[in-house]
Amino acid sequence: MSDWDEYAADWDENAAVRAYADGAFASLTSLAASIGFDLDGVAACDFGCGTGTLTDRLADRCERIDAVDTSPAMLTVLRGKIERHGWPHVRPLGELPATPQGYGLIVCSSVLGFVDDYATTVETLLGHLEPGGLFVQWDWEANPVDDEPYGLTRAAIARTLEASGLDDVAVGIGFEVTVDGDTMRPLIGSGRRSSAPDSGRGAGGC
Ligand SMILES: C[S@@+](CC[C@H](N)C(=O)[O-])C[C@H]1O[C@@H](n2cnc3c(N)ncnc32)[C@H](O)[C@@H]1O
Repeated sequence: MSDWDEYAADWDENAAVRAYADGAFASLTSLAASIGFDLDGVAACDFGCGTGTLTDRLADRCERIDAVDTSPAMLTVLRGKIERHGWPHVRPLGELPATPQGYGLIVCSSVLGFVDDYATTVETLLGHLEPGGLFVQWDWEANPVDDEPYGLTRAAIARTLEASGLDDVAVGIGFEVTVDGDTMRPLIGSGRRSSAPDSGRGAGGC
């Protein structure tokens, strides 16, 4: 049981959710093109995948996708999509595997602002990123003057990705889209693992 379970059945019916996934995917393809990163044939992890709104858009490009989410109900919806589309290369998982998976791409769409320990989660994820691999996250920008601030600040994302050893760290507005009068302008944070093979760290190791 997860707090997110109750949203699963209607998640894909939400126009804002679909627009967010479109925006994330467009910003990912644009980033990949700008840094010469080939999305085709990559082994990917969609962490905090929900019903797989981003997995959907990556499925035809990636060699395989591990779609990880702690909500059993979200994964149930994703399993239905896998069956309908016939996607044997998409693996729904309730947690990250214990051993390093050598992903070439890790995407985290609107999840890292919700985890208990952002820095530790990034550290764990990066244990699965192969040399030269690309890490990308999208999150709501935290506004510290809000009564109940949520999301992440640009400084926290930059500090965390740089401290984790990623190269070419960049943080900015991922995309902007207006749905039913509400404008979404989430942050995108990204970085590459150095291609030097000895700079990688194993899952769980530092
Ligand atoms: C806002 S939803 C985003 C879902 C999907 N990425 C999307 O953009 O449509 C956040 C998702 O993160 C998942 N989540 C929260 N904490 C998590 C964790 N520690 N590990 C994996 N998934 C988590 C939730 O179950 C939920 O499905």
